[in-house]
Amino acid sequence: MKIDLKANNTNGKVTEMIYGQFIEHILNCIEGGVYDPDSPLADAEGIRTDVLEKAKELNPPILRFPGGTVMCQYHWEDGIGPKSERIKRKNLIWGGELDLSFGTAEFVSFCRRIGAEPMICVNMVSGTPEEAANWVEYCNGTGQSYYAQLRRSHGYEEPFNVKYWCIGNESYAEPDLGVHHDVSLYVRDALEFIKFMKLTDRSIKTILVGCDKPEWNKAVLDALHPFCDYLSLHHYSAENGKGLYGPFEGEKALIQMIEEAADLIDTYPDTIENFNPWYRFPARSGKVKIALDEWNIWNFAPDETYGLLAEYNWRDAVWVASAMNDIVRHPAVAIANMAQLVNVIAPIVTTKDGSYYQTIAYPFLLYRKHMIGDRMEVEVPSVCLDTKEAGQIEALSCSAVRKADGTLCIAVVNRDFSQPYTIGIGTGKGTMTTLTASSPYDQCDAAHCCVQEETAAVSLDEITLAPGSVNLILCAE
Ligand code: AHR
Repeated sequence: MKIDLKANNTNGKVTEMIYGQFIEHILNCIEGGVYDPDSPLADAEGIRTDVLEKAKELNPPILRFPGGTVMCQYHWEDGIGPKSERIKRKNLIWGGELDLSFGTAEFVSFCRRIGAEPMICVNMVSGTPEEAANWVEYCNGTGQSYYAQLRRSHGYEEPFNVKYWCIGNESYAEPDLGVHHDVSLYVRDALEFIKFMKLTDRSIKTILVGCDKPEWNKAVLDALHPFCDYLSLHHYSAENGKGLYGPFEGEKALIQMIEEAADLIDTYPDTIENFNPWYRFPARSGKVKIALDEWNIWNFAPDETYGLLAEYNWRDAVWVASAMNDIVRHPAVAIANMAQLVNVIAPIVTTKDGSYYQTIAYPFLLYRKHMIGDRMEVEVPSVCLDTKEAGQIEALSCSAVRKADGTLCIAVVNRDFSQPYTIGIGTGKGTMTTLTASSPYDQCDAAHCCVQEETAAVSLDEITLAPGSVNLILCAE
């Protein structure tokens, strides 16, 4: 079969901000992952140097912290000042203890070392608007006020300049400690948080809780759209007992959620005229955008680790590439954070002696390097894959950008593990990098990487996509 794939009009910019990551105080993501002072691999700050190097290579431009659901019980003042004085708390959400040695300053320092913007999620459940505003002042204050001075007394003369602030997390989901599952309560409290926080620093950007329920998103935006820079969406695809093709079926929900939120956002004005003069901070400028600030595959299990210590196979990496195509393709998605960076549903896994990349890291690295630029509208004709377990899914997934140097980059994923496809995208020559593995069930471990990467010259009129492969084609035109 020969498929013509056409990359035509441009539709906005794909920025690096869609290649963000997330770390939470959850199992061994931070404690024993990023931060492990007892490890021989740790540096003077307690950061695992092997993790640091891999995080630098993944190069997320934005990193979210400290949760996630653990935000419900996170009081930021537990995580500042001399480490010897920091307490531990019981981790009410994820079990074990919440070691607060890796707090705000350590997070910001880690962000600086890997070149990421910090993105902080505030506690809207057991915290108060004032506590959140004090956190903003501790991070960004430049004057002589108490929390700015407190930061200085901890040795940080310069402000941390944290720009991105999430106003709660998954409030709709009614987790153990949730109080905002009724949207009217979320709206009421979020407004107070935003006021306190924006009056502390007028320049911060707010990310409000959205979800796959259009009525929730409408209630949030109706009440708060002038204060909403980004609407947060979260998505986890899962196998759900549907075997090889389960996550691909789940991806339909991701696309639908993004499209519905984007359509809703289009009904609100791009800029806010005649902003209420009683508010002494500016309204949003520019369109509300989507922050897909948690996404990945998560096969939830009712065990003590909730299935979070996932071992990803090659099928999962093929899904991750498809999800990145969905993200690249949609102009409303301005920020995205893969959840999470280390050990917990993560591209990086640590062992006592070192660390390794799971399969899902490889498409991430490839896209992070190339898929940034002018978004090109690209169509791949429908090739229906009739799967026994998950019904009908599309065999091919694609996205395209034109990089700043003019190179056209087309990412095409063949999600059919049983056969190759041949596509044509024009004339002339290009190069193609292909990621594959010998079986969809292959996994990486500390001793071996199952992902094969090959770059070769290709004729653009006839390109063969191997079964179950992630392909990135670069051409001058
Ligand atoms: O990433 C794991 C958890 O998934 C996060 O804590 C929560 O926000 C989401 O439900």
